[in-house]
Amino acid sequence: MNTTETIRKRRSIRKYKHGAIIPDDDIKTILEAAMFAPSACNTRPWEFIVLKSEQAKQTAVKIHPYAKHLNDASIGIIVCAKTELQSGISEGFFPQDCGAAVQNILLQSLELGYGSCWCGIYPGENCVPAFKKNFNIRCTPIALVVIGIADETPAVRGFYDENKVTVL
Ligand SMILES: Cc1cc2nc3c(=O)[nH]c(=O)nc-3n(C[C@H](O)[C@H](O)[C@H](O)COP(=O)(O)O)c2cc1C
Repeated sequence: MNTTETIRKRRSIRKYKHGAIIPDDDIKTILEAAMFAPSACNTRPWEFIVLKSEQAKQTAVKIHPYAKHLNDASIGIIVCAKTELQSGISEGFFPQDCGAAVQNILLQSLELGYGSCWCGIYPGENCVPAFKKNFNIRCTPIALVVIGIADETPAVRGFYDENKVTVL
């Protein structure tokens, strides 16, 4: 699948084949894709927590209001921001940097044959402290990415909208 196809085929998947295993090599490829994302001044202000165990997944399901689909998925990845790595001209760009990392995770997952779903954490008033407390996270949790074998094929929702474009 090339980039043009991957971008246009991606959908948020909320139904997964229960019990499917993602090999460690694929998990590494997905994390590597995340770490290839651009970041302000190349500060790479990210850290990743892979939720593989049932216990870890269930904890995330309990504290995230819109991620029940992690129950049947293979793994979750919490993308966190190390905000202290950014100062001066890079200060405060971490949501963009981590967003780019999340998008790379979604696209790489699809190319490897997995479905995924971006579940936002930051800047949720309740969600951020809940993830910090339950997973003992010292930095800032930005998003929970759910990944597994898709058990649905939702129609593509993206489309080109000329009204969103200004050419100067
Ligand atoms: C910042 C952000 C937060 C999101 N949070 C959730 C979420 O908590 N739970 C969920 O099921 N989907 C979540 N989504 C997925 C969106 O609902 C989805 O991307 C959107 O409806 C478009 O559908 P598509 O991804 O299939 O194109 C989130 C997406 C983004 C970018």
